Amino acid sequence: MASVHLREISKQYPNGYRAVKGLNLEIEDGEFLVLVGPSGCGKSTALRMIAGLEDITDGKLVIGERTLNDIEPKDRDIAMVFQNYALYPHMSVKDNIGFALSLRKVPKKEITTRVNHAAEILELSPVLNRKPGQLSGGQRQRVAMGRAIVREPSVFLMDEPLSNLDAKLRVQMRAEIAKIQKSLGITTIYVTHDQVEAMTMADRVAVMKGGHLQQVGSPKELYNSPTNAFVGAFIGSPSMNLFEGTVEVKTHETVLHLGTTELTLSEQTRQIYPNINTYHNSKIVVGFRPEDLEDAAFVDTSENAQGYFESDILLAEELGAETMIHFSLDATPVDVGDPDAVEKVGANGAAVARVDSRTTLTAGTRGKIFINTSRLHLFDASTQQAIKSR
Ligand SMILES: Nc1ncnc2c1ncn2[C@@H]1O[C@H](COP(=O)(O)OP(=O)(O)O)[C@@H](O)[C@H]1O
Ligand SMILES: [Mg+2]
Repeated sequence: MASVHLREISKQYPNGYRAVKGLNLEIEDGEFLVLVGPSGCGKSTALRMIAGLEDITDGKLVIGERTLNDIEPKDRDIAMVFQNYALYPHMSVKDNIGFALSLRKVPKKEITTRVNHAAEILELSPVLNRKPGQLSGGQRQRVAMGRAIVREPSVFLMDEPLSNLDAKLRVQMRAEIAKIQKSLGITTIYVTHDQVEAMTMADRVAVMKGGHLQQVGSPKELYNSPTNAFVGAFIGSPSMNLFEGTVEVKTHETVLHLGTTELTLSEQTRQIYPNINTYHNSKIVVGFRPEDLEDAAFVDTSENAQGYFESDILLAEELGAETMIHFSLDATPVDVGDPDAVEKVGANGAAVARVDSRTTLTAGTRGKIFINTSRLHLFDASTQQAIKSR
């Protein structure tokens, strides 16, 4: 077992494209770190450099005490699980799992012991003599895991290992992989573009965009304190609403103008963003999560006199336990440069509120949507960085 250190790691492909730019990551011994970001942001490139499948252009890779830049992949004590499991179709499950060991001339008896042990962990014992073609998708995924486990590596690398499974199985395998990782205690770097996967599996999540690391932290830290608008939008589903706003500092309060809507900042928000008053008369980016909004009919506003939007309701999606209200806002939506974002934002760039399922708001009506202004996320308009201290 080992810690993994990436120090200013960069990758420039032979065609000149820079896929990873000065990546710094410290992964603790036994930690489950998930590298997440939109497709093309450099996740697989980073992972492949750690595995030794791509040369490191610049920077230093240290695992445990060893610098690995110039060490052959097979000598790195790393096992990788790929998206397409690349199982040998003509070999039994047993032989697939044990293959890397027989290549290394591990004695037959020990191979059997290690394969049986891995099969037990992965609940594959009953199917050890089958061929991959006779297995379910989930079982094939587990065989791929088994091949990594029997090698007893100091580090696991996994590149979107669940993307070939259907949605239900993915959820189930998510929990299983996390459980197995914890019981084996092997340092793991797991790549996915799926922020839900990242949030549910990781000890810590590292968010990348355009080859750059954006933020590393626990799922809660990323969710509660995104360092910039991109992370704010990327983590959480439906996405954080992001609109341009203007700050107005009045004698006794600070007000945000979002189009024609005025929101008075709560004391709490002013404490989180002590420098907000330096933005007087300036444009900022205002973020608010769907779950921090509510149909005003279900909020005791007398007790908690905060802000609200009065808007045209564009769409009400009833999901049973809750309803997603898409409503129009006459403020400018903010683009955070997420190439995958089209799938995530509300209809026509409208704002989205996750409200009580008893709501009577429907498309075509006018509605009053409460907003908890203690939960606002404020970003600088030019850098899109969270306004903290400047
Ligand atoms: N061999 C290569 N030569 C040039 N560019 C590449 C090569 N492999 C990947 N890229 C580019 O590098 C970027 C990052 O790719 P990748 O690491 O696979 O992203 P991700 O895994 O995050 O989707 C992409 O724009 C991709 O097109
Ligand atoms: Mg990839």
